[in-house]
Amino acid sequence: MPFLTDEFKEKAARLCAKYPRKDAALIPLLLELQKEKGFVAEDAMDALAKFLELPYARVKGVVTFYTMFNREPVGKYHLQVCRNISCHMAGAPDILAHLKGKLGIAEGETTRDGLFTLSTVECLGACGAAPVMQVNDDYFESLTVEKLNTVLDDLKHGRLRARGL
Ligand code: FES
Repeated sequence: MPFLTDEFKEKAARLCAKYPRKDAALIPLLLELQKEKGFVAEDAMDALAKFLELPYARVKGVVTFYTMFNREPVGKYHLQVCRNISCHMAGAPDILAHLKGKLGIAEGETTRDGLFTLSTVECLGACGAAPVMQVNDDYFESLTVEKLNTVLDDLKHGRLRARGL
């Protein structure tokens, strides 16, 4: 199977036409690729670089710089705990420790049932509501251990859905 489907290429061509230079569409196209599979594989980066006539290193550099891009498959719910100063001061280390203990995984790991992947990320831009965790495309703010337990439970039992992935 080709790494860029015909459907993707058509969408990409339409998107590129909106920009003065097609390399400006790099990030939106990477997001599209990630939407298809939940992560951006090396081969997909390579194919996209060729499609945009960019050096592979440029595409890889963007994917590795932004934590919003997953380079490996992730669970149904990607838990991303902010580790920057405001969240740190507001209790992010406790939130992270609780998640590790409750899910039985370390950072970068996925639970056996494929439901949760745990990561830490840089500032999510919601410092006023620290500590913050992003789950797929949604934010959960002003977290406490109790609130976290409710979120996990609701996600696990389908009472709450997180957008994206
Ligand atoms: Fe966590 Fe900014 S420091 S959202």
